[in-house]
Amino acid sequence: MTWWRRGVIYEIYPRSFQDSGGDGVGDLPGIAARLPYLQWLGVDAIWLTPVYPSPQRDFGYDITDHTAIDPRFGSLADFDALVAQAHGLGLRVILDYVPNHTSDQHPWFRDAAKRDWYLWHPGDPPNNWISVFGGPAWERDPDSGQSYYHAYLREQPDLNWRNPAVRAAMLGVLEFWIARGVDGFRVDAMRQLLKDPLWRDNPPNPDYVPGMPEYDSLLPVHTADLDEVQEIVAAMRAVIGDDRLMVAEVYAPIERLVRYYGEGGRGAHLPLNFHLIGTPWRAEDVGALIERYEAALPEGAWPNWVLGNHDRPRIASRVGPAQARVAAMLLLTLRGTPTLYYGDELGMADVPIAPHQAVDPGMARDPVRTPMRWDAGPHAGFSTAEPWLPVGAGQGVAAQRDDPRSMLTLYRRLLALRRDSDDLAEGAYRTLHAADGVLAYARGERTAVALNLTGEPRPLPVAGEIVLSTHSGGGASLQGDEGVVLTI
Ligand code: NOJ
Repeated sequence: MTWWRRGVIYEIYPRSFQDSGGDGVGDLPGIAARLPYLQWLGVDAIWLTPVYPSPQRDFGYDITDHTAIDPRFGSLADFDALVAQAHGLGLRVILDYVPNHTSDQHPWFRDAAKRDWYLWHPGDPPNNWISVFGGPAWERDPDSGQSYYHAYLREQPDLNWRNPAVRAAMLGVLEFWIARGVDGFRVDAMRQLLKDPLWRDNPPNPDYVPGMPEYDSLLPVHTADLDEVQEIVAAMRAVIGDDRLMVAEVYAPIERLVRYYGEGGRGAHLPLNFHLIGTPWRAEDVGALIERYEAALPEGAWPNWVLGNHDRPRIASRVGPAQARVAAMLLLTLRGTPTLYYGDELGMADVPIAPHQAVDPGMARDPVRTPMRWDAGPHAGFSTAEPWLPVGAGQGVAAQRDDPRSMLTLYRRLLALRRDSDDLAEGAYRTLHAADGVLAYARGERTAVALNLTGEPRPLPVAGEIVLSTHSGGGASLQGDEGVVLTI
């Protein structure tokens, strides 16, 4: 049994977790100082979004050196210390690996001899490809008159993974961090690594309606999820091996997503399943999603679930604070490895950002990236200085940790229950009821979960002894917004 099957991953956005340097930006020593909290909470692994040197145009996803630490976050020595301390507490460390693109300030991009490490086209853009962040995905370089492709910002040119030198250099990055003791990687933008070599136009999306992001106006059939990407997935997995975890960011329909487990299990251990994020919050829809995903999993594949991340609105804002408790119970009682986004365990909601405070280039993701709330001190204990993004209102860890009704207590209880229950950790999933606002399912032989996805009371569709409720008490019927775990 590999640790990550029973484990829970906790995503940390390093800029916003804990500042130790007094500059209003979180850092590695800050994270290290908070590891005992994470151990107390009961998670198993931390995933750090990028901490490498970067001009921070896309907050670390624009990298200038894949094998170093940005001085904003600390040093390699700080990183080694963080890994050692985490391991000492029984926590694993997962790094973000960003193979699809670099910063335009990366020495490779500035090296004329490495022109074929990127995707250049003589003259004007050869096709209609659009950047994920909107606007053309080709940028014309005034000096050479040539254009280069960027799936994201123009400051993030895409690497040419068809070039063996790129491949060797980027696989070497994995080896560098493995040698430093990391326990796994979350691979960024996995599905975009290869583009059509003929550079054909992407077709229009027939389902596009104005108001949707510009990127969705085309179907990215020639820029994402090419069949050949699977070969790179396998090459990465071969380096990462069986003892470390390979998580892959794959936004794709379920049937395409599950291909990233690879032939014969030679792909990612966990292609991230984001489908709870887009599914309507109704018992029928969530129930149908779980069924579809469970049914699509290839032989031997281990499922996983995500409620939120640094790119999408927070769960508490999507479903409201009362239902966020129900969502926590869902996340931590489904079959598969959960990824928990920092602050969701406090019930943090999206924080309104005034126009003059906005820093995210174009995607408006600032509201979900605001500082972690620790205590009643200045800036909620996050920093002694003005934080890079405003701290949201609401209770922090200190106020919630001993309150039996707090979101934090609920998360901690759920995590403990999951850890101690073979049914919840590994038992088979079976839908019991998905109608009239209530989703109920069995896990293993003796455990069931019933979730009321409405604010109104509902009959409890399963008999048993309640072991945990989102509410105090727990009775013969479900209160509005109540979820319960039962022994059956
Ligand atoms: C996905 C990351 O999660 C997002 O934050 C980033 O902007 C893009 N990939 C580009 O690296």
